[in-house]
Amino acid sequence: MRLPRTGTIEIVPSVLAADFGCLAAEVAQVEAAGVKMIQFDIMDGHFVPNISFGPPIVAALRPHSTLAFDVHLMISEPQRYAEAFVRAGADHITFHIETADRPLDLVESLHKAGVTAGVALNPETDVLRIIDVAPYCELVLVMTVHPGFGGQEFIPQMAEKVRRVRELVGPATRIEVDGGITPETVPQVVDAGADTLVAGTAIFGTTDRRAAVDGMRDVIEQAEARV
Ligand code: DX5
Repeated sequence: MRLPRTGTIEIVPSVLAADFGCLAAEVAQVEAAGVKMIQFDIMDGHFVPNISFGPPIVAALRPHSTLAFDVHLMISEPQRYAEAFVRAGADHITFHIETADRPLDLVESLHKAGVTAGVALNPETDVLRIIDVAPYCELVLVMTVHPGFGGQEFIPQMAEKVRRVRELVGPATRIEVDGGITPETVPQVVDAGADTLVAGTAIFGTTDRRAAVDGMRDVIEQAEARV
């Protein structure tokens, strides 16, 4: 169980925006910049209209990094593939509530496999859909774009949804936001209660990754000072 303790605000680079031709070097750059987690976007071309990569990529990177591996399953049958990602070296697995027939059983099997569990909801999915499973998860992921592609615009209404999720889960659960997270959109999600900020383009879409991480950290500190 390597998800950072709550109480800190974490920047989580998403490898979907990285150069796949030199992925280990890309990951090493953000690790050197001081992040503690990295996200793997797993897409099956069915639940979302895009195909990314699978357990072999996670397994290939595992020996090259000490970061917490946060695996975001945007796939139709998460219970069928979750264990393969655990074996590949995932530390945390998030599945979508829209895809899980028996979410509580899936959370239990993830915990038994020794990883932390998260539940995600799409922009159009109401917070009430996670009311039963969220108390058993270490993390709730509020999608701030429609899943499937990097580089999309942040959906402003999702800040209010983060606030509702924070009211629902209290302070002991991490709230992750994903999609269109930039230094411009960080203040509103931190103000609303998010503490785990996934960023693809805003970090791997730049040439100086350390400057990108430092820049985002400055904005977070300013937002924290206001809360
Ligand atoms: C989209 C993915 C995101 C995406 C974020 O479905 O879940 O993780 O890679 O990329 P940006 O930060 O570019 O929106």
